[in-house]
Amino acid sequence: MDPSVSVTYIESAAMSQRKKTVIDILRDSQDFVSGEAISDVLGISRNAVHKHVKSLRKRGYRIVGVSRRGYRLEDEPARLSMGHVTQRTEHSMFGHSFRYHDEIESTNLEAKSLALKGAPEGTVVVAEAQSAGRGRLGRRWTSPAGKGLLFSVILRPQLPMSEAHMLTIVAATAAAEAIEKHVSARVAIKWPNDLFIGDRKVGGILTEVSGEQDDVDWIVLGTGLNVNTEFSELPVPLRRTATSLKIAGGEVLDRSDILATMLLGLETSYKSALRGGFDKALTAFRDRDFLLSRTVSVETRQGPVIGAAAGIDDRGALLVELPHRRIRSFHSGDVTLHS
Ligand code: BTN
Repeated sequence: MDPSVSVTYIESAAMSQRKKTVIDILRDSQDFVSGEAISDVLGISRNAVHKHVKSLRKRGYRIVGVSRRGYRLEDEPARLSMGHVTQRTEHSMFGHSFRYHDEIESTNLEAKSLALKGAPEGTVVVAEAQSAGRGRLGRRWTSPAGKGLLFSVILRPQLPMSEAHMLTIVAATAAAEAIEKHVSARVAIKWPNDLFIGDRKVGGILTEVSGEQDDVDWIVLGTGLNVNTEFSELPVPLRRTATSLKIAGGEVLDRSDILATMLLGLETSYKSALRGGFDKALTAFRDRDFLLSRTVSVETRQGPVIGAAAGIDDRGALLVELPHRRIRSFHSGDVTLHS
């Protein structure tokens, strides 16, 4: 690895020493270990051991429990190969500084705090799991450990604040193009930041911006993508609306390789936008517009506005055609398909 590349591995403090010991015991044994034996080593009750096992299962450890035999570790959550990511992104703008977390509250929160402390453009925060992943409009983003891609990058473009939101369009189109290099499905974008395969959401971008007066100081672009998530691992309320690359394509994919492709693609699109403006991203977006010609409902303070989605304008605003051919544009807001 290039000595100028830094990968910092940060272990979650939320994973207690006791849980780590439970995993170590099970890993070393490779067979069933009784709850009693574990409770003796840890000096805690068998009930407490059971609680640790339950919480480890939630973190992606597959632990079977059989009465009178105990527990056996069948599988551990997958980990990204940062070696592979750094190799593929060597000399690129997102290839010099990685912060890898096994678990974190939110990569966007962490990237924002790093940006505030002066972290340079191109810093990448990546996690296997998030305890409080955030989506647009205050929503949650959930993903089982080791199954998706959860990462945020820090940008410091010379851009007026009024154009910062255009980077969501840049990032979403770059993400869609990158994903299509790994799956045969078409990836559409639901304005402004949702990635769709068919009629189901597979990922999303969360853009957070800080600046003074008219100049952007930093932008954090956070991407969540369901990669190897199984249908049964989707939260029940999302099973009718969400998908993963694995569900859509039937194959387990190499998350590290997809991450590298996404970072390289983002660099190309970002640099092209800063150099030549947003036309290319706008064209790419229009080509993948999930909402185009569909009847949509846009939430506004005055209530829902219903009309036919008519694309986006050159400033990235959603256009909706209302009765009598009147076109209204929306710069923000929650849009849903109107049934
Ligand atoms: C959305 O669907 O509204 C956007 C979802 C963005 C989720 C990603 S996961 C990595 C990064 N960290 C977060 O807390 N959110 C983004």
